[in-house]
Amino acid sequence: MDGNGRWARRRYLPRVAGHRQGVDAVRNTVRACAERGVSALTLFAFSSENWRRPAEEVSLLMQLFSNALQREVRQLHENGIRFRVIGDLSRFDPKLVQLIESAQALTATNTRLTLTVASNYGGRWDMLQAMNRLRKEPDSGRPWNEDDLKRHLSLGDMPEPDLFIRTGGEQRISNFLLWQLAYTELYFTDTLWPDFDGEALDRAIQSYRLRERRFGRTSEQLAEGSSRSLSA
Ligand code: IPE
Ligand code: MG
Repeated sequence: MDGNGRWARRRYLPRVAGHRQGVDAVRNTVRACAERGVSALTLFAFSSENWRRPAEEVSLLMQLFSNALQREVRQLHENGIRFRVIGDLSRFDPKLVQLIESAQALTATNTRLTLTVASNYGGRWDMLQAMNRLRKEPDSGRPWNEDDLKRHLSLGDMPEPDLFIRTGGEQRISNFLLWQLAYTELYFTDTLWPDFDGEALDRAIQSYRLRERRFGRTSEQLAEGSSRSLSA
């Protein structure tokens, strides 16, 4: 979710106004995803690198996160949405961590849409914490494989994402889900995050539909595979 600051600057408003509008965009996008039958949405809200921002902006972002949680969790729950947070929460205010934990507990068995918020998250951090956890497992005597590592990643129990959307014009992954994005279709848009909504989501999904996902195979194999089922 990128472009909150620029959205505000274009309106001669302080950056915080962009972040506030960004929260509305989150609400609209979550609703739009649920309506369209999307089963998992992961939002990159705050990266490990975002601590480098002015202290005032960081504390404001935390405040917004905590307010939004308090205000919205009930509605998420009523709409069948499972809420979770990934990232290193050790630097977070204990009160915010408490809110996150109770929201996760309340919504844990919901199945319509899994909404994950990546906060103080980094893809490299995720791989490292997975390796450290793997290392603590009893030695199986065989070399580790991809599944061993994947299991310990923050989203190890989730399917890999089909579509990655970055708003705000930058064409980078910026240390998001590095492992899981290996075969994900990437979509970049100049739309600033506060302007993102159901229509913008539909444009991204439309672009996704036109892609051909070959996973290393040839187009001819895919055409054959639509009549016979493909094996690995
Ligand atoms: C994204 O908007 C919000 C967060 C990273 C929390 P930015 O704050 O990065 O907005 P720009 O890039 O300055 O426009
Ligand atoms: Mg930015």
